Amino acid sequence: MSSAREEKTFYLETFGCQMNVHDSEKVIGTLLQQGYRQVESVEEAGLVLYNTCSIRDKAEQKVFHRLADFRSLQSKGKRFGVLGCVAQQEGTRIFERAPHVSLVCGSASYRNLPSLLAELEAGNPRVTGLDDRETDQAFETEFTVRNNPHRGYITIIEGCDKFCAYCVVPYTRGKERSRASRSVIREAARMAERGFTDIQLLGQNVNSYRDPEGVMSFAGLLAAVGRLPGVRRVRFTTSHPRDFTRDIVEAMDSVPAICNHVHLPVQSGSSRVLKRMLREYSREEYLERIAWMKAARREISITTDVIVGFPGETDEDFEQTISLLESAGYDGVFSFKYSPRPNTPALQFPDSISDALKAQRLTILQERQRQLQISQNRRYLGEMVEVMVEGYNSSRGQWIGRSAQNKVVNFVSPALVPVVGGYYDVRIRATFPNSLAGELERTCWTPERSPVTLPVLQ
Ligand code: SAH
Ligand code: SF4
Ligand code: F3S
Repeated sequence: MSSAREEKTFYLETFGCQMNVHDSEKVIGTLLQQGYRQVESVEEAGLVLYNTCSIRDKAEQKVFHRLADFRSLQSKGKRFGVLGCVAQQEGTRIFERAPHVSLVCGSASYRNLPSLLAELEAGNPRVTGLDDRETDQAFETEFTVRNNPHRGYITIIEGCDKFCAYCVVPYTRGKERSRASRSVIREAARMAERGFTDIQLLGQNVNSYRDPEGVMSFAGLLAAVGRLPGVRRVRFTTSHPRDFTRDIVEAMDSVPAICNHVHLPVQSGSSRVLKRMLREYSREEYLERIAWMKAARREISITTDVIVGFPGETDEDFEQTISLLESAGYDGVFSFKYSPRPNTPALQFPDSISDALKAQRLTILQERQRQLQISQNRRYLGEMVEVMVEGYNSSRGQWIGRSAQNKVVNFVSPALVPVVGGYYDVRIRATFPNSLAGELERTCWTPERSPVTLPVLQ
């Protein structure tokens, strides 16, 4: 047995969405609690873990490439584990494809990690944690490692019951299950006491939240977290258009700490395609929700996700997506080529759009959106924006942070040295498609505690 293993060290690499990033924070906390030490490279580690994503084929392939790259290290006594969405989707097939893997565990089984690790340590070469879709278990732990001392995630709902035709998530994350509002508020209050000022509520569909104790709606929970002493910003992601209700906008109107940014994935601007995608809303219903947001007291920035080349998407359908970009006036769009995924209903439609046509549509969409963002961002010229500082970019000589609307803001500060985690008013002097730039004008709020080591952002 190698000394690395006796020492119980682990290396963890995370792929995928914010839910995975936050799961990793909880997994790290659990491992530390079990006596493991985290290391920064595969070479140093006794246990190598990948927290994986399966949303598109490319994401899934990444983990198999990693595993192939490091296969030879198994002979040095290292163990390999696959966690997350690929683990749940592929299950024990992973052992066939990558025989040097000895742990496969989906997100709905992380609560069992301590016993699974004990089995591994006892020498079991094939350990699995694979709950079925019907599990109602959630992964709540007090052992969460949050490296950023100012901004942190809280999962409020796990899983998904929507079964959009293209999507693996309902199969990899299990059924929708919400956490009691009491427990969420307790965790948020504890974080606020420890100095976190920016709290992000997470869920695959965060606004499908249903308090199991029936105490609060999602909008009520947002407002309650936003009213906690010490909390300056509450964010939430991702919102599903079908469950996006007007009271969310009303909560944003009445609680200043709720950030005026909504990520509302549309996927397509064509009602015909939305129907085939099983999204459960039409273009018109989606635009109605946009109109609610446009009527809010504060200006709400809106971002979205789009899939191009869904089976059967015609030129006209695609044109409708482009015209929707113009109507919605998005502040940012994440766009993807449709990727056929295992188990999903869309597999029964032939993947009818060639990769070349998908690529062409993606380029057209991204270029159109870039132009829109160039012109829309000009509205910020001369405006004052409150920024939470995240770090200093030494190569550009600029500080970097984010506004409540989730805009990246780079700024200079000739007169004072800002504190990471502090909030400052910045006068915007230049705008770009994906960021704003300006000069610090005044301090709004700074943390009482001594500033943390400055993260250097490249
Ligand atoms: N729950 C969110 C989306 C989570 S998945 C919602 O329903 O809006 C993140 C994004 O990945 C999706 O919004 C979608 O745009 C993209 N995506 C999901 N499955 C995909 C697939 N098979 N091919 C390409 N993109 C996909
Ligand atoms: Fe996937 Fe649809 Fe669920 Fe979003 S709502 S995670 S796209 S199945
Ligand atoms: Fe990927 Fe799973 Fe998130 S598939 S996007 S890591 S829920």
